[in-house]
Amino acid sequence: MTTLEIRPCTADDLPAVRDLMWQLDEVAHSTHDFRLDVLEKLLADMAASPETYLNLVGVVESRVVAFMSLLFYKTLFHTGGTALINELVVDRGFRGGGIGSILVHKAKEEAIARRMDEIEVGTERTNRLARQFYRKCGFDQEYVLLGLEFTTP
Ligand SMILES: CC(C)(COP(=O)(O)OP(=O)(O)OC[C@H]1O[C@@H](n2cnc3c(N)ncnc32)[C@H](O)[C@@H]1OP(=O)(O)O)[C@@H](O)C(=O)NCCC(=O)NCCS
Repeated sequence: MTTLEIRPCTADDLPAVRDLMWQLDEVAHSTHDFRLDVLEKLLADMAASPETYLNLVGVVESRVVAFMSLLFYKTLFHTGGTALINELVVDRGFRGGGIGSILVHKAKEEAIARRMDEIEVGTERTNRLARQFYRKCGFDQEYVLLGLEFTTP
């Protein structure tokens, strides 16, 4: 594979990241419009809390081909600290070439740099391929994540 550069996501990357998020939408069987102004505000809000959020892009030959969003948090139950992979997507034309694994490895490095000792990820119940991928990366199914979505008046 040609060289993969991993760097923080910037506002200029958002059109490419939006395309990747639409690809994630496809596997999640959901539909979002991902308005660029909304994404830009979210990115800026997260960038203001670098101890909690890290948004990275994977770049091959100047093209953004992957996106990973990480959340770092602590709980009383798991005191070491946890890195949660909130979103991970590789462009469909670049899958199967090792980019996803490199990004998971990067997530682990970032967790270790923050003296944390766990990485978690949730996938859609129907996303069997992603579960196979994460198992190959060394993840085990430890928890069942339940979700309740609602709109705020
Ligand atoms: C899941 C995803 C991030 C994997 O990225 P990738 O760059 O294709 O993965 P890699 O090339 O690093 O693959 C690593 C290993 O997982 C396996 N793997 C990857 N995708 C797989 C798939 N769809 N089905 C089965 N195994 C898969 C590979 O065979 C590889 O094993 P190997 O090293 O023994 O060959 C990517 O396929 C993707 O973006 N999918 C759509 C979005 C998604 O489902 N994201 C996860 C939800 S959070």
